[in-house]
Amino acid sequence: MTASPAHSTRPWEDMVLYQIYPRSFADADGDGYGDLQGVIDHVGYLELLGVDGVWLSPIMRSPGADHGYDVSDPRDVDPLFGDVETLRRLVEELHAAQMVLIMDLVPNHTSVEHAWFAAAVEAGPGSPERERYFFRDGLGDDGSRPPNNWPSVFGGPAWTRITEADGTPGQWYLHLFAPEQPDLDWSHPDVGDDLERTLRFWLDLGVDGFRIDVAHGLAKPDDLADLPDDVEIAQLVVDERDARWDRPGVHDVHRRIRAVVDEYPGAATFGEVWVGPADRFARYLRPDELHFAFHFPLTGAPFEAGAVREAIEATLEASRIADSAPTWALSNHDVVREVTRYGNGALGTARARAMLLVELALPGITFIYEGSELGLPSDFSIPHDRLTDPTWERSGHAEMGRDHCRVPMPWEGTQPPYGFSTADRTWLPMPGDWGPLTVEAQLEDADSTLSLYRAAIETGRSWRGPRTASVEWYGAPSGCLAFRRDNGVVCALNTSERSVPLPEGEVILASGPLDPHTGAGEILPPDTAVWMRPR
Ligand code: NOJ
Repeated sequence: MTASPAHSTRPWEDMVLYQIYPRSFADADGDGYGDLQGVIDHVGYLELLGVDGVWLSPIMRSPGADHGYDVSDPRDVDPLFGDVETLRRLVEELHAAQMVLIMDLVPNHTSVEHAWFAAAVEAGPGSPERERYFFRDGLGDDGSRPPNNWPSVFGGPAWTRITEADGTPGQWYLHLFAPEQPDLDWSHPDVGDDLERTLRFWLDLGVDGFRIDVAHGLAKPDDLADLPDDVEIAQLVVDERDARWDRPGVHDVHRRIRAVVDEYPGAATFGEVWVGPADRFARYLRPDELHFAFHFPLTGAPFEAGAVREAIEATLEASRIADSAPTWALSNHDVVREVTRYGNGALGTARARAMLLVELALPGITFIYEGSELGLPSDFSIPHDRLTDPTWERSGHAEMGRDHCRVPMPWEGTQPPYGFSTADRTWLPMPGDWGPLTVEAQLEDADSTLSLYRAAIETGRSWRGPRTASVEWYGAPSGCLAFRRDNGVVCALNTSERSVPLPEGEVILASGPLDPHTGAGEILPPDTAVWMRPR
């Protein structure tokens, strides 16, 4: 066992973690892409925000077809972001500031530029090199049809045909995502052995844990049979017949990962588990599997009290079955930003602020996606010739993909690139009207979204946990919800179109202005949430 530098000794169960999408956070070397030095330069900002740590989206060596989720060397840092020493310094700086660092790990697939894949293509059909991936002959006399009918998440078939070394059309390989992301065959012993090395490499360097990409997709059925014609294809897997996901063998992989991570006391894993039914989701959290898993209903719930409550209850139920801390997120690098989902502009912002108070009143681990604290909207105005998400091309330009939520952070000033970079051209263009949204513009403004985030994180710190804490629902007027935490704090949300009276008591924090009520108490206006202690 390797003694690790300084893993977290703090409980994870009530942390507020901040997701950094590295190419969009801060660019220190002036090439238009964010980098690790940019993160180091802003550790003070993270302290000011009050978060307990960072989830860093992938920074391993990658040609960038899916912006780091296509890894060509899992034990190196991509030069775009710095090098292993820069990451070590970031870990040290975060630890010195009492923060943790979770890295993204991508065990389901590699890049086509990974040495294994290059060797597999070269070695030819039937070779041991091909067995680390899913190479199969095509169907039909000339093998010109894909081996099965599986679709790729990014559009089109989940198979691509290669040209063999002699120039002839050859076998097909499986890729649940982009063609540049061939799926690994986890039944091959090299695959798990290599991941163990990768886990130890980063844990020895001092990282506190991992977010595990596609944690529900790591095992494929032996027969790779066609999906039934009527199978329900959805990101959140609800149809058990979608055999691309949630196969029994996936749990062996998580046991293997857990055994290594357990050698490093305090380290933890967070799985990306898009599995709907609570009992199936909970299986990933058995004591010898993942420590925690992302549960996504809030990222999809409309701003409507019933739907929000349903999403919360689904997450609480899953975590109760699993006996694991719930996790919450309003957004991440894959979904439309909450301000936009809730209606954009002042309305969307008011609602996103209200939902922040709901989220931070709940027991468990909260993930904040960079830019949410500034109230950034998704940017759907990016010119088509600047789009980079593989979904755009794969869908034949039918779907824009996720660039809209990955636009760089505006730090200061009144025009692009708002202090994000010294380069005029940033990897994605930044809108011209983000001046009022910069950190600089919001920092000293007590009413800003940034100030609300800081206040909510700070104020809630003492009573968010523990994970076993209960959420007691109150009857609330139609279009509203209210729940009480075990220390007596009540969170109330109004998604209706009319104001409602609040019980008398002390208001701790409100997401927007409350109307004073003549006589008793206050009024909770539409699109607003409040934390209070009723008398
Ligand atoms: C989930 C990640 O969050 C997403 O960004 C990525 O494209 C896919 N996994 C494939 O790795």
